[in-house]
Amino acid sequence: MENVESNLHHCKFEVPEIIFGRGLLSQIGSCARRLGGRKVFLVSDQGLFTAGWVDLAMRSLLEAGLSFVYYDQVTPNPRDTEIEDGAAEYIRQGADVIVGLGGGSAMDTAKGVAILVSNGGRIRDFEGSDKIIRPLPPLVLCPTTCGTGSDVSQFAVVNDTERRCKMTIMSRCIAPDISLTDPDTLSTLPDEYVCTTATDALSHALEAFFSVASTSLTDVHAIKAVRLLSKSLVKAVRERRPDDLENLSRASLHAGMAFSNSLLGIVHALAHPIGGFYDVNHGSVNAILLPEVLRYDIPVVAEKLPELAWGLGHLSKGETNGSAEMVQDTVEALLDASGAPRSLRSLGVVREDLPDLARKALKDVCIVTSPREADEKDLLRILEKAY
Ligand SMILES: [Fe+2]
Repeated sequence: MENVESNLHHCKFEVPEIIFGRGLLSQIGSCARRLGGRKVFLVSDQGLFTAGWVDLAMRSLLEAGLSFVYYDQVTPNPRDTEIEDGAAEYIRQGADVIVGLGGGSAMDTAKGVAILVSNGGRIRDFEGSDKIIRPLPPLVLCPTTCGTGSDVSQFAVVNDTERRCKMTIMSRCIAPDISLTDPDTLSTLPDEYVCTTATDALSHALEAFFSVASTSLTDVHAIKAVRLLSKSLVKAVRERRPDDLENLSRASLHAGMAFSNSLLGIVHALAHPIGGFYDVNHGSVNAILLPEVLRYDIPVVAEKLPELAWGLGHLSKGETNGSAEMVQDTVEALLDASGAPRSLRSLGVVREDLPDLARKALKDVCIVTSPREADEKDLLRILEKAY
């Protein structure tokens, strides 16, 4: 809490080295090599292997004169056990640099392995903020979805399989050394994930923009992400044109830079216990919660709405008329047109669990930067409306 408050007046902005462009995944080997690696621990998943991207990455590593160990025990909502098994494998194999290729699951698994091989213990020991003491091995992250932002962020989210909840780990140490985005990888992303990962990015951008820890540096990136999503989200979902997909990739990057530095809010505070308890898609949960949280936040963020309305494609800069309704309606229309799910019930959430989920959300680190304070009853009301 003290850290967040002190950042309100001290503009701190942390980002990794960023490489972005079509066809650049082939640079993965040179990135790992110039960080001093010799034996790469490559984390990815079955879907990317089948699509051919893992093969491309492996060839690049070999061409750079590196050997590698391939680890693909990665599931959506990455689990503590997968990270702990990965760390044991890293140590057994004597790897010295980590590359994560994939969505949030592969990248957060890579981060988790990096934490454990340098700090020991279990991954749950690092839940919360700034618990990591020792420096991590070099880390390269390559996102292949349009949402997570893990490739630039100081966050990792891990499923605690014993407690059935998501743990948020926050530390400057887990922003990677290099974030390498090749938008061509979106060409093989299944349709449903284009929508759900992009709505995650939309949620990152809006929560970062309204966060009490937002600054002029984070606002620039949040609004840029909103503009790119307004322009290309629906078209990318329906037509899958490379230019629109690239815009989603870029939006994810901008939203990631924004939220990594300004943190998030109630959408993610609620999404974490829901995702952890039901093992459901993170972006879908966010898309459902976002309109209700927006309705809750809008009364206390009025001064920021005209800029957001501009980001959403309305108003000229400096105009202010009717921006509250405009923002609410436009975000809801964007979510509707993208085909995102609209009720928690449709994801299999059980009504009787809502009070417990609200209670857990109050303990999530993301609640700290919500622009509007919320108690258990407020959170429960939001959940009920989204049900
Ligand atoms: Fe997210």
